[in-house]
Amino acid sequence: MSKTADFAVRTASLEDAEAVSALLQASYPSLMALGYEPVLFARALPLLTKANPALLSSGTWYVVELSGADGALIGCGGWARQRPDAPNEPVDTVLGHLRHFATHPKWTRRGVGRALFERCVADARLAGVCTFECYSSIMAEAFYRALGFRTVEPMKIALGDNLTIPSVRMLCQMTTGPSEATG
Ligand SMILES: CC(C)(COP(=O)(O)OP(=O)(O)OC[C@H]1O[C@@H](n2cnc3c(N)ncnc32)[C@H](O)[C@@H]1OP(=O)(O)O)[C@@H](O)C(=O)NCCC(=O)NCCS
Repeated sequence: MSKTADFAVRTASLEDAEAVSALLQASYPSLMALGYEPVLFARALPLLTKANPALLSSGTWYVVELSGADGALIGCGGWARQRPDAPNEPVDTVLGHLRHFATHPKWTRRGVGRALFERCVADARLAGVCTFECYSSIMAEAFYRALGFRTVEPMKIALGDNLTIPSVRMLCQMTTGPSEATG
């Protein structure tokens, strides 16, 4: 478990499902809404804020827990080898995909997202991954750029039943240390 003074990053499990859904429901409406057309966002929100059991049990998806008695979750995110939009395709063994990052709105800009990313980098490197891809929300593009990602192209993510939301495909080459990674 990696720790700072206030919080710690640990591997998630299926037992975190309820708390992760609550965290996503606290984070996404307030931090993502400005990037989207309101009616579209209202339709997408219930689908975006459900904890994903496959990620929870993957061993490469993490939660950030507050230090102290109640251990409340203030962040989540991780990586997977499969592209979210191509779950059954063969994987590229040196490519990882960042998935479902969120910080609680009371804890933004305090390094929670960066701590999650650094954990992703450390674990993915050990697994032979040297490039990360992410399908960033409109509002998170600046965050991923700060981590060393470069923007590749705008895209749309299909959420099912004629529902797609705008997104941004981004890439990060992990040729140096996590905080110096270049795009
Ligand atoms: C994107 C998100 C996870 C960032 O979490 P965070 O814990 O606030 O990020 P950090 O504090 O680690 O920020 C690291 C750096 O990213 C950049 N950054 C983060 N949020 C930013 C913002 N809103 N605008 C501009 N830059 C930002 C900054 O350079 C920041 O460093 P600094 O605070 O020292 O300047 C959070 O805003 C969030 O949950 N957003 C809603 C959900 C979402 O869009 N998730 C991405 C799905 S693809």
